Amino acid sequence: MKPINVGLLGLGTVGGGTLTVLRRNATEITRRAGREIRVLRAAVRNLDKAKLLAGDLPLSTNPFDVVDDPEIDIVVELIGGLEPARELVMQAIANGKHVVTANKHLIAKHGNEIFAAAQAKGVMVAFEAAVAGGIPIIKALREGLSANRIEWLAGIINGTSNFILTEMRDKGAAFEDVLKQAQELGYAEADPTFDIEGIDAAHKLTILSAIAFGIPMQFDRAYTEGISKLTREDVQYAEELGYRIKLLGIARRAENGIELRVHPTLIPERRLIANVDGAMNAVLVKGDAVGPTLYYGAGAGAEPTASAVVADLVDVTRLHTADPHHRVPHLAFQPDQLSDTPILPMDEVRTAYYLRLRAFDRPGVLADITRILADSHISIDAMVQKEPAEGEEQVNIILLTHITVEKNVNAAIAKIEALDAVAGQVMRIRLEELAAK
Ligand code: HSE
Repeated sequence: MKPINVGLLGLGTVGGGTLTVLRRNATEITRRAGREIRVLRAAVRNLDKAKLLAGDLPLSTNPFDVVDDPEIDIVVELIGGLEPARELVMQAIANGKHVVTANKHLIAKHGNEIFAAAQAKGVMVAFEAAVAGGIPIIKALREGLSANRIEWLAGIINGTSNFILTEMRDKGAAFEDVLKQAQELGYAEADPTFDIEGIDAAHKLTILSAIAFGIPMQFDRAYTEGISKLTREDVQYAEELGYRIKLLGIARRAENGIELRVHPTLIPERRLIANVDGAMNAVLVKGDAVGPTLYYGAGAGAEPTASAVVADLVDVTRLHTADPHHRVPHLAFQPDQLSDTPILPMDEVRTAYYLRLRAFDRPGVLADITRILADSHISIDAMVQKEPAEGEEQVNIILLTHITVEKNVNAAIAKIEALDAVAGQVMRIRLEELAAK
């Protein structure tokens, strides 16, 4: 059979990795796809930089040379960001080309519009590389778990922040130094606040939630809190209590809607996912039939991400000639079967909490605090009061609560902070048991 022709947009970390893997494993890939996957041309920003890697591959600095080339069957978008990526993807679809993309930002923000356009044109848009790099989590959720009603999923889906948290815990490294290292290793986003403030994880969580629950992409409704306010002190106290702190993306089917949230989370240290360190990613998915399943691997980097891009290329190549109605739907569920289950506001989310506060070491302070919690219907699970440091009058009090509603905790925190005996703000970190039941 004649080769399928691919045009690459971008030859940076992931684009370079994709070209390398396609070339190195060409025989294996052809045996799987049933025909050769041939890169016909690539668009790059900097010709000089790309030439060495590209070899005899024709290069251009105008991405429309790729998108409008009638010879090209599949456009691989690896430039990232919203524009011009959105325009290029929409133009590729309008030209009747399939699209493979690693662009989580684009899919989380404009996925609904992109899939509708692709549906209308009968082309595929594949995006395995957009979530958790090399881990085939889209495939697993969309196809492997299609018998299940997904109850919840929780993922470490930003390698940079996991790398930072790990280095801070293991080596006591400074935040800035570790971030710099992550940038040098090619893990960090162009704007590293996306990594540190949980935005990149929220993009990926939005995509996972859509496929898990058959809902449209709703990035703007995701709650996003990053790791920049975490202190070494909290990491240590969490460990003393038997927990690790991870930046988790959590999507959960609750009674009145769907919880969609990214935030630092205490997890029992005995859970496998609590031991996912460095830049590695992991996604824990709970299906009603299968129970909990865990997917682990490299969430970023040239070849791990290329692994997902090339797998999508193989899929698209195999299904290229199939009747569009017999292909796996973009969001796992048939497009007319998407659900309008609402995303819950953060106030309505139910979880447990770690609270740390500084208080003057005098009679009645603990009684005042526990009274406020009791009045807010918050039950205490564990409590530790640290001895004051030499010459200090204030002590650190750490409380773990049972599961409660976020708005009750917020109200209680405001009252605790207003107490004369309490200094400064209460540190609040959510806690999830992630138990199988
Ligand atoms: N900045 C991302 C991360 C890259 O650190 O996980 C992969 O999406």
